[in-house]
Amino acid sequence: MHDRVAFLILAAGLGTRMKSRKAKVLHRAGGVPLIEHVVKATLDLAPPDRVTAVVGHQAGEVQAALSRYGVGFALQREQKGTGHAVQCAREALAGHDGLLVVLYGDCPLLSASTLGALIETQRGADTAATVITTELDDPTGYGRVIADEQGRLLAIVEQKSATPEQLRIREINSGIYCFQAELLWPRLDEIRDDNPAGEYYLTDVVEIFRRHGLSIGAYRLKDPTEVLGINTRVELAAVDKLLRDRKTRQLMLDGVSIERPETVTVDAGVRIGMDTTIGPFAQILGETVIGEECRIGAAAIVENSVLGDRVEVGPFTLVNDSRVDAGGRVGPFARLRFGNHVEAGAAVGNFVELKKTRLGAGAKALHLAYLGDAVIEPDANIGAGTITCNYDGVTKHQTRVGRGAFVGSNSTLVAPLEIGAGSYVAAGSVITDSVPADALALGRERQVVKPDWARRRREKTSR
Ligand code: UD1
Ligand code: MG
Repeated sequence: MHDRVAFLILAAGLGTRMKSRKAKVLHRAGGVPLIEHVVKATLDLAPPDRVTAVVGHQAGEVQAALSRYGVGFALQREQKGTGHAVQCAREALAGHDGLLVVLYGDCPLLSASTLGALIETQRGADTAATVITTELDDPTGYGRVIADEQGRLLAIVEQKSATPEQLRIREINSGIYCFQAELLWPRLDEIRDDNPAGEYYLTDVVEIFRRHGLSIGAYRLKDPTEVLGINTRVELAAVDKLLRDRKTRQLMLDGVSIERPETVTVDAGVRIGMDTTIGPFAQILGETVIGEECRIGAAAIVENSVLGDRVEVGPFTLVNDSRVDAGGRVGPFARLRFGNHVEAGAAVGNFVELKKTRLGAGAKALHLAYLGDAVIEPDANIGAGTITCNYDGVTKHQTRVGRGAFVGSNSTLVAPLEIGAGSYVAAGSVITDSVPADALALGRERQVVKPDWARRRREKTSR
């Protein structure tokens, strides 16, 4: 941990170039809001009480997205530019006179180690601040760095204010700075909004410092990837792809097989055990945890779910907010909507939907069924086409199927209902009353057979 270092993350802007109603820093890359990536990097280096985010546009939503991290907030009511945003945080950071790292919430690839290196560079220098810079083949949109022969910064010129000659400079401002805080605070008020955007640019402090005889150094990054800022959805997609590639690559290095990894989407928070195989176009999302030796079929989507070892999720299956224990099988073409628990060795087959249902160990529902608000005890068999009628138009009701019970195909189970252990429900039944253990329940008309009826009809019509 670096003591006497505070972090200030600017995240108050709308992000006009995203063309979105949603604040830019809440857009997701790698399945995680942009701002969270940045906050996580700072929390590797400092405790949460040394990290402050400046919020403004959709402040409530941004604060909610960060609530679990325990970081502090400062409010920038009107977004008048990055310099103004830092001014708005002055009170929240009152008394901080160590190093202040300022960075932007739209820069999600930044690593803690690069931030650490920036701080060390500033510690070892006699400058008032250090700025991370890098060279880009296409620097369009970024602030350009004007430096002297010693590599010290003379100015940062924003795209909108730059001369054609300055626009040709390829060294850009990453927007990540380490300041000696007590030198920054008094100079902030000297920032003016006399530029084409009419904004208070933080980048103007470079020239202001220079006027006061204070020098600013650069920490030059060779690989620009880490400091790519996101301003448009095109850049968002590019960074998302990069984060996805990193995640699948790491999983593969850790012993997970991924077929056609370029088609697979895995969110940052997902954990997957050794010797599990992920099929093409699968999406593993949210906080999902998958055990060892599982198989996730092609185009399956698993979200916020926990899968034990040796679980099979067939192709084109959706598993949301559910749990499947060791050896469970779901799909192909199954849907576990939410709140389900498929116990060890239980099986859910094609075109079966489960909602808030527990399928006991070894129980089976293999074809075309809907089980909602149900408890299916171990080893019960749910026949093809079985439907729990769990909703009466007003309230939801429970269905319980006892251990080892056999529910025949195309049964309609009208809840609330208990089907006793070891009992049978005849195929095609509509069951409205509970069935005792070991009984046979038939809930349908007895079949009528009229011998010779068809032959006589044929004879009559052919006359
Ligand atoms: C900024 C830098 C530019 C740099 C680039 C790197 C300035 C003036 N320019 O430009 O030199 O090359 O980042 O990515 O700083 N924000 C606020 N309040 C505001 C305005 C912005 O909190 O009033 C926040 C935004 O939410 C965002 C960050 O500051 O997270 C940067 O703002 P943005 O508009 O993206 O600046 P750039 O044009 O990218
Ligand atoms: Mg930006």
